[in-house]
Amino acid sequence: MGIHKERNSNVSGVAGSEWLVLTADVNQQLIFELLQLRVCDSKIGIYDSAGRVQRSYARQDIQSLLLREAVGGGSLHVTTNSQTIEIARFTTPHMEAYRKAMPELEHWIHSTWLTDWDQPSHDADEDKCPKCGKVARLGVLPCTHGKGKYTVLQHMSRYFKPYRHLMLYMAGLLILSVLFDMVPPYMTKMIIDDIATPAGNHKVLLWLISGLAVAQIVATGLQMSRGYLGIRMGGKLTGDIRRDMFHALMDQSIRFFDKRQVSQFIGRIHHDTDEVKHFLTDGLIQLLTQLLTAVFILAMLFHLNWKLTAIILTPVPVLMLGMLWLWPKVRTLWYAQWQSSIIIQNVIGEALQGIRVIKAFAQEKTEKTRFNIANDKMVQRTVSIQSMWLAMTPLFSLFTSLCGILIWYLGGRTVLSGEMTIGTLSAYTAYLMMFFGPVKWFAQSISWVNDAMGASERIMEVILAPVEIKDLPDAQPLKMPEGEIRFEDISYGYEKDRQILHDIQCTIAPGEMVGLVGHSGAGKSTLIHLLCRFYDPDAGQILLDGQDIRQIRQEDLRKHIGVVLQETFLFDGSIAQNIAYGCPDASAEQIIEAAVIANAHDFICRLPDSYDTKVGERGHRLSGGEKQRVAIARAVLLNPRILILDEATASVDTQTEALIQEALNRLIKGRTTIAIAHRLSTLRSADRLIVMERGRIVETGSHFELLQRRGLYHKLVESQKQKQDQDQSVEVHIG
Ligand SMILES: Nc1ncnc2c1ncn2[C@@H]1O[C@H](COP(=O)(O)OP(=O)(O)O)[C@@H](O)[C@H]1O
Ligand SMILES: [Mg+2]
Repeated sequence: MGIHKERNSNVSGVAGSEWLVLTADVNQQLIFELLQLRVCDSKIGIYDSAGRVQRSYARQDIQSLLLREAVGGGSLHVTTNSQTIEIARFTTPHMEAYRKAMPELEHWIHSTWLTDWDQPSHDADEDKCPKCGKVARLGVLPCTHGKGKYTVLQHMSRYFKPYRHLMLYMAGLLILSVLFDMVPPYMTKMIIDDIATPAGNHKVLLWLISGLAVAQIVATGLQMSRGYLGIRMGGKLTGDIRRDMFHALMDQSIRFFDKRQVSQFIGRIHHDTDEVKHFLTDGLIQLLTQLLTAVFILAMLFHLNWKLTAIILTPVPVLMLGMLWLWPKVRTLWYAQWQSSIIIQNVIGEALQGIRVIKAFAQEKTEKTRFNIANDKMVQRTVSIQSMWLAMTPLFSLFTSLCGILIWYLGGRTVLSGEMTIGTLSAYTAYLMMFFGPVKWFAQSISWVNDAMGASERIMEVILAPVEIKDLPDAQPLKMPEGEIRFEDISYGYEKDRQILHDIQCTIAPGEMVGLVGHSGAGKSTLIHLLCRFYDPDAGQILLDGQDIRQIRQEDLRKHIGVVLQETFLFDGSIAQNIAYGCPDASAEQIIEAAVIANAHDFICRLPDSYDTKVGERGHRLSGGEKQRVAIARAVLLNPRILILDEATASVDTQTEALIQEALNRLIKGRTTIAIAHRLSTLRSADRLIVMERGRIVETGSHFELLQRRGLYHKLVESQKQKQDQDQSVEVHIG
């Protein structure tokens, strides 16, 4: 997996997005040669002077980078899953440049996951901003010309709008409660200075003490109601965001998912909305409280004794600078930790989804190792970030205590000299300690803000990702179509530089049954995907009853196209619900009728709960043939004008195939049908066969016409016959 040998060694493939170029002047044979180490978002590679790539590594394969320093020079090593390899070697004069680049390179490999998403696996050109030419950082977000955070906030603020009254109310509560927090130390001052003297007045003392108690109670009450409002708003708001994310995913076109690891979205919807919620319910309120408190306290401190305050505040700028210095490091660690958790999640998700394959190939050990690597990384990152906090917290406490002691000394002197009362001093120290709360908080909240920003960016990536295949504003509803399909000069490639279909031209008459034939990979399924409008052709158009399918509302189009694929997905629910998936309003009678037509009724009746048997992920397991008949029943119920069968009988035995074939023959009647079948014998009854090879139509005609022509179809039939004969002779042999 490590080395990507590139046939197209032109530099331009990397140029543009590469952000680091370093010189390496010793080649693998340890001979002086001027080479360049180039790093772009997706890979690192070493290039010769002509710009040809010698070796390159995809970023997601790299686990770590190591800089080795030796006498006279150094080398850079890449560790992938399987090995550690030297990628660049250089003489001493270049050492410094490499040393400087290391932190950035570290950061770069840590950013694996996010940028995997950023960068579609092919033609990054598509995602280049037409204005500034840069690949948009988020890949799917419109380029913000460097104002990413601002735009994300702008989009995010939409979600606050419905709650703006609630927010105003909360802000009011916030100010009130911070004000009430200010009261107790001041009252203490009054108690010490004015009451706890020989001339003190018992009545006033009682009043003050009651006032103190009331202030505490009110402050607590305010805090609680604010917290409650925060939780309510946060909960609702994240609900809104989660909903929009899922809706956006449902509206995305298939291509969006082709390019991305799908299990990541589960994590995104969960993790990221949680992160935002966390911030909104706790973080934001805390942040504002602390800021407000800091301001009020500062005012109070100056009011009580401005000289002392000026002295005490001198180390604060140093503290701030320290935090600014520390911040990027903490951030990298946080980010790396977040990323590790996502990677772990992906590993788990993939392993569980593929558990049958893992077992079948006895790959448990490999998966365990894969998990352990991810897990170890997570542990390592968690430990390093938490030890950092662990070191920071006591240091900060030490600092604040020292400040406190200093104040007692300096303040004590002013008290002794009669400049300040003891009450003022004790109020002063109380405020000062309150002041350090927010300062300490500030450091922590930066990471919260940052996490929430990161999460918001990732959320917005999903919500704002442009949908490739959209209904045109003037898209027409589709009445019951006749079912004539015309492909006009269709060309299409999933990737820009690899065309799959070339100039496909053919017309299928209403009610005609057409078989699509060709080697695997010829482009049969692709043609069908285009008809279903999972993708739009690069050139040409597909007409349904003379109307371009891009002019038809997708929902209507798909309502009239029934699809039975090789693999059927059953949702968690009863068999009846699964049959009625496309028509939730179907009555029980209609469902049973459909099942009868699909030859599914008998086996369903034999199930423990008949039509109410739970199937799907957590339910009764159906065999391939049974699932297939459920799929056919689904299509029967949908009653589409156009029917597509893509290898519908490929995964079943001959006996079941007969049952399915019988059901299909009933289903086909009166509909325009395109059937793809590996076993050509099943297509013999087709009105016409279309033979495809390497994305082109090479022959059309009936079974007999094509046999007579002795072209590709003839060859395919012959080779299948031979294979069949072989199989039979083996059977005879065994028998
Ligand atoms: N989602 C996809 N992304 C990129 N390439 C694809 C995708 N699906 C299919 N292909 C490629 O398109 C070609 C035609 O595939 P397909 O239409 O599935 O062939 P057939 O159904 O005739 O066996 C194959 O080379 C396949 O690798
Ligand atoms: Mg196929």
